Amino acid sequence: MTAPASVTVRVPAKVNVQLAVGGLRPDGFHDLANVFLAVGLYDEVTVTPSDALRITVSGPDAHQVPLDRTNLAARAAELLAARHGRESLVHIHIVKDIPVAGGMAGGSADGAAALLACDALWGTGAARAELLDICAELGSDVPFSLVGGAALGRGRGELLTPIEVTGTFHWVFAVADGGLSTPAVYRECDRLRTQSPAGATLADLPAPEPSPALLDALRHGDATALATVLSNDLQPAAVSLRPSLTATLTAGTEAGALAALVSGSGPTCAFLTKDAEAAADVAEALIVSGTCRSVRVTAAPAEGARVLR
Ligand code: C5P
Repeated sequence: MTAPASVTVRVPAKVNVQLAVGGLRPDGFHDLANVFLAVGLYDEVTVTPSDALRITVSGPDAHQVPLDRTNLAARAAELLAARHGRESLVHIHIVKDIPVAGGMAGGSADGAAALLACDALWGTGAARAELLDICAELGSDVPFSLVGGAALGRGRGELLTPIEVTGTFHWVFAVADGGLSTPAVYRECDRLRTQSPAGATLADLPAPEPSPALLDALRHGDATALATVLSNDLQPAAVSLRPSLTATLTAGTEAGALAALVSGSGPTCAFLTKDAEAAADVAEALIVSGTCRSVRVTAAPAEGARVLR
């Protein structure tokens, strides 16, 4: 068999329908109960043999994406190559549609996609377990980008258990101007907690647990029930760093969203709606409100990273 000339992988964004943040661990990460839901906004990553490892990016926000070794797509190629005793001589092109630094795992998605694409291009034949292992090394959210659908992430978010979902959930995302740094949002979360009366012992917070009601709502495809239990422990920190998010969240709620929350570490805001028609109404109202840079309408769950061609 001849090697393919190039491989393209499509990979989804995510929203956290529950992000329960526990104590600060000695390694600097936080224990999580992280319920991921993949949503139908996608990046496409194409890898082609080249004389050096390089990255190019297209799309409206391409200029915000790092082109050096800090890009998880480059690190994914390097890690896979190193494990299989070869060089990472590949041109990685990212067609960027997931908001950059928006709390939707766009960087993680590109890491997972590049990994899968290089595995196919090089004929590495890595087992799923090895790919997941490399994903976990790349970042806490990267394994979920590979897997997609819905999953509970324990540990720092990398230890995944699939979650059953019925039907389709309709979402609107309000994209903010500029991103937020994930470590900065976690630091702010800790700062706010140590200020509160219950705080001061960040290492001793109770272990975060998934909400049984939330898992039930996903299993039954019940958007109204899901709306009552959506939660994100990072939201107060994201809003503290970006107070204008309050106006965005309010605009979507007033327009008829079932619920509003910050997506992951933000600043993208997520709105759950009862159906596609309500999603279109909420999107329109958010645009008119002028409280965000752009608006995206999509559905969940979406499948994980997949080779397109
Ligand atoms: O795993 P990842 O590289 O995406 O994490 C980025 C940063 O986010 C970490 O360095 C840490 O500051 C914070 N983080 C955390 N607890 C987690 C995941 C991430 O504190 N469970």
